[in-house]
Amino acid sequence: MQKTLVIFKPDCVQRRLVGSILARFEARGLRIAALKLIQVDRALAEKHYAEHAGKPFFEGLISFITASPVVAGVLEGNEAISVVRAMLGATNGAAAAPGTIRGDFSISKQNNLVHGSDSPESSAREIALWFGGEKDVIPYSLAGDEWVTAG
Ligand code: RTP
Ligand code: MG
Repeated sequence: MQKTLVIFKPDCVQRRLVGSILARFEARGLRIAALKLIQVDRALAEKHYAEHAGKPFFEGLISFITASPVVAGVLEGNEAISVVRAMLGATNGAAAAPGTIRGDFSISKQNNLVHGSDSPESSAREIALWFGGEKDVIPYSLAGDEWVTAG
C-alpha cells in the first residue's frame, strides 16, 4: 500500500470544506493513517515548498500557507499518490475539470484547497517533514478492507 501526504490548506479550513473533502478520500477507499490541525510556521512552509524557492509566486505561496491553520494528513491505499492527485485536478482551479476537488470548489491558482504529494520521493520527504517519518503514522486495518483493495 502506498502513502501520500495531504494538506487541507488555509482556504479549505476557512471555508469549512475539510470534512466534505476528507469524506471524498474516505469514500474512494483511502485509509486515514495520520491527521492533525497545525499552524504552519515559515520554516516548515519553506521546507515543504523548497522546490519553488525563488519563483515569482514563492512569497505569496508562503504567506498563504502560513496565514491560518491547515489540516495535514497521511492517506494510504492502492496507488494513493496518483489517485489523490487525480482527485485534486489541475493546479489552477479555474482550469480544473468538474468532478475534481479543485474543479468543484476552486477558481483560483493559489487558493486550490488541498495539496497532495506528487511522487513516492516527495511523499517520503513530506511525511518525514510533517509527521516525523512514520513516528506519528498509525498502522491499523479497517473492517471491509478486502472489499476495497482486492484485485
Ligand atoms: P500542491 O503542491 O499545492 O499540491 O499543488 P500542485 O502540485 O498542483 O502545484 P505546484 O506546481 O507544486 O505548485 C505549488 C503551489 O504553488 C502555487 N502556484 N502558483 N502563480 C503561479 O503560477 C503558481 N504556480 C503554482 C499554487 O498554490 C500551487 O498549489
Ligand atoms: Mg506540488
